[in-house]
Amino acid sequence: MRGPWFKRLLRVSGPRPFLILCLVSAFILIALLGPSASGDFGRVNSTARPDIYSGYRRLKEQATSDYLELRSLSLGANRLKDIPLCNKERENFVPCYNVSRNLLLGFKDGEEFDRHCGVSDDRQNCLIRPPNNYKAPLSWPAGRDIIWSANVKITKDQFLSSGSMTKRLMLLEENQIAFHSEDGVVFDGVKDYSRQIAEMIGLASDAEFRQAGVHTILDIGCGFGSFGAHLLSLKLMAVCMAAYESTGSQVQLALERGLPAVIGNFISKQLPFPSLSYDMVHCAQCGILWEDKDGMFLIEVDRLLKPGGYFVLTSPANRVQGGSIRRIEVFTQKLCWILLAQQDETFVWQKTADAQCYSSKQDALTSCQEKREIQSYYPPLAYCISGTTSQRWIPIQNRSSSFPLSSTEVEVHGVLHEEYLEDLDYWKSVLKNYWSLLTPLIFSDHPKRPGEEDPLPPYNMIRNVLDMNAHYGGLNAAFLEARKSAWVMNVVPIRERNTLPLITDQGFAGVYHDWCEPFPTYPRTYDLLHANGLLSHLESESCSLTDLLFEMDRILRPEGWIVLSDKLGPIEKARMLATEIRWEARVIDLQNGSDQRLLVCQKPFVRK
Ligand SMILES: *[C@@H]1O[C@H](CO)[C@@H](O)[C@H](O)[C@H]1NC(C)=O
Ligand SMILES: *[C@@H]1O[C@H](CO)[C@@H](O)[C@H](O)[C@H]1NC(C)=O
Ligand SMILES: *[C@@H]1O[C@H](CO)[C@@H](O)[C@H](O)[C@H]1NC(C)=O
Repeated sequence: MRGPWFKRLLRVSGPRPFLILCLVSAFILIALLGPSASGDFGRVNSTARPDIYSGYRRLKEQATSDYLELRSLSLGANRLKDIPLCNKERENFVPCYNVSRNLLLGFKDGEEFDRHCGVSDDRQNCLIRPPNNYKAPLSWPAGRDIIWSANVKITKDQFLSSGSMTKRLMLLEENQIAFHSEDGVVFDGVKDYSRQIAEMIGLASDAEFRQAGVHTILDIGCGFGSFGAHLLSLKLMAVCMAAYESTGSQVQLALERGLPAVIGNFISKQLPFPSLSYDMVHCAQCGILWEDKDGMFLIEVDRLLKPGGYFVLTSPANRVQGGSIRRIEVFTQKLCWILLAQQDETFVWQKTADAQCYSSKQDALTSCQEKREIQSYYPPLAYCISGTTSQRWIPIQNRSSSFPLSSTEVEVHGVLHEEYLEDLDYWKSVLKNYWSLLTPLIFSDHPKRPGEEDPLPPYNMIRNVLDMNAHYGGLNAAFLEARKSAWVMNVVPIRERNTLPLITDQGFAGVYHDWCEPFPTYPRTYDLLHANGLLSHLESESCSLTDLLFEMDRILRPEGWIVLSDKLGPIEKARMLATEIRWEARVIDLQNGSDQRLLVCQKPFVRK
């Protein structure tokens, strides 16, 4: 099953002379097809769009350098023994969450469960291996509801206790877990629940969420992601966020289903999102004691919500009757939230659209000092109100419901509308080129040419994409416009220009991250990692490229893809490392006269 037929075929006929023959015949073929091909390329070049190959002569040069590269790859094979595979215990390893170490270091009062990186290094230079019976996830839509049980860490107890609405699942057969089925046979509670919330907001059905200005939802403690999966089917962006769990992780399961998720928690630090970034924050039995810490967690929710946004809380009956809701209401009044409705155990509050409201309250909370740049990542929770003086204080009910953003919506970010549209166009053409590269053919002795058919799943099945340096979110926009069934986690590195508010305003998922640290996710959770200009950025940060590539290897699933776009120097360094960690790697010259290169890699299924 593994490895495409054409590759095996070539391997059987094996030796180098055949390869050269092959390349020569490819040139003749291209020369014959010349007029139409160069016509195509000419057009692309004249608009200064990057293209993967252009012209016959360049292709020939490319082939020669590819040949040398292939040779250096096979010579490099001897050094590979140096990098070992990690122990089996590290199969599901997430750095920065070692509770016993944090306790030893003196973190207490819950802070031992926080993310602490760099206090003492738990990195090991080893490659995380997949579990024994790991299988590539099923493609969508089936893969959203059925996963391979060997791919995730889940215990028998969790099946037994999986009774609550957002946490229901069942063991199908010995090796599969099923969550939800469209025909409602497994369970239908989530659809009813979603409709109930829509009605409580005053909508006829949950199909109207988008018109009502609800595009992005932060689903805290998302169970196994079923609510988010349903919202995604309504074309909403629901990001699951849950604390690190050593077994049966909600975030791991959601990502395995191909649903947006990231590790994070309400303990002592702000979540890595800008203020005014979500239209709804949802918590169904998410385990957070909202009334604790003087309402600090509710203030954090207020920071994240856009004006007019909603906080939906579903709490077990005993907590409602036990009076915790009354204590929560003390804070919601101070925060100017209006209790829109209560039904059974579900409460819906709406954040005020009036920025002046906060100061009208008795012993009003002060406004936070707002900073334009991302100064520190994970700043401590703050006892103040954010966003009221921001130009982005626009009620969600007032926004236009269509993508791309209007010029006023773009210009509040200090970005020219024209520049934004140009960026969208640029990424549209880039994605087209990328897509044609995402095929094992790119590494074969007979590389694929642009314009050939999109490769079919499962070889390049891509659902979860991590854009490690997302800028305006152009790659995400291009995926959306090309109707690829993939979603993108847009990362804005700290100390880069703060474009995350523009990304979230487009209804996309995104986080801040410091790429000198590990990313808050489980191993094997992304299908494609993309980074444009990140390597050069990190060179100035003086953190280790080796660490970064190990981390990328950890979070990428076997047979997942990496596309790095950067200057020749950093790309060459990355290529050397890539071959050392046994990725299949190929450097591609963009052929537009710049020193910009692409490095396309694929992580192997197993390493020996
Ligand atoms: C967690 O920290 C303890 C104490 O420093 C250490 O012994 C243990 O190996 C660490 N666990 C992991 C998984 O790194
Ligand atoms: C939102 O829309 C309402 C009604 O159209 C308008 O009165 C209000 O000024 C708008 N608010 C903002 C901040 O644009
Ligand atoms: C070539 O393409 C790269 C990446 O797409 C772009 O950044 C660069 O400006 C282009 N260079 C020229 C000379 O067009």
